[in-house]
Amino acid sequence: MPKAPASIVILTGAGISAESGVETFRDKGGIWSKVRLEDVATPEGFARDPAAVHAFYNARRAALGAVEPNPAHLALARLQHEHAGDVTIVTQNIDDLHERAGSQNVIHMHGELTQQLCAACGTRSQAAGDLSTDLACTACGAHGRMRPDVVWFGEMPYRMELIIDRLLAADLFVSIGTSGAVYPAAGFVDEARSAGTRTLELNLEPSEGTFLFDEARQGPASVLVPAFVAEILRT
Ligand code: APR
Repeated sequence: MPKAPASIVILTGAGISAESGVETFRDKGGIWSKVRLEDVATPEGFARDPAAVHAFYNARRAALGAVEPNPAHLALARLQHEHAGDVTIVTQNIDDLHERAGSQNVIHMHGELTQQLCAACGTRSQAAGDLSTDLACTACGAHGRMRPDVVWFGEMPYRMELIIDRLLAADLFVSIGTSGAVYPAAGFVDEARSAGTRTLELNLEPSEGTFLFDEARQGPASVLVPAFVAEILRT
């Protein structure tokens, strides 16, 4: 790795949390092999059967208590604290493992399991346990309109302008643990390349967009990410 890049943008996907025991989506036996995304990760699915969608996210939220950040999350937090330049972490994940590892200002472009959103007034708040159709919004009083603060297929991911600004200003873009199957995240490497940003993929296996990266390393995140961070901090 040539001299340390000043500003770094990191994109993470489900693969960075896999070794913590959080299921990925498209690996063998992954989430989408057990439940139809149309039923639990679309506005139409929620309208059809809100109780089933609440149950899906309530189970994943409850499971957060049984998992811990792994060395990959911890290494990224170290990078943020010790690197002289800016380190922006954009995650597609809705778990809180980056924060629990010590990372700050994490951009959750697909939302967060720990948050709830009132579909009537748009107020976000901390989800205190299971969500259901019985909840009333403390801000507007609407009843039965509370939903997980998760971006579903067909909805606009959060903070896209900020993400693109950071990508275009970055010296290095690193994609970690994502299959490159879902846009707009899968297109970030193109944005980075268009701005002349160096691009690196760290993944268990080549992603769908691996050919777009200047460099791609295969292996478990818990091994590749600490080694990458040590490399950056050494330079
Ligand atoms: N270390 C590194 N990479 C891993 C590991 C690991 N231990 N385990 C799995 N991976 C890789 C897989 O090889 C795969 O490329 O992580 C990737 C996980 O891909 P997906 O399951 O498709 O997850 P992700 O890319 O985050 O999905 C993107 O799709 O369903 C939507 O909203 C959901 O945010 C999600 C988005």
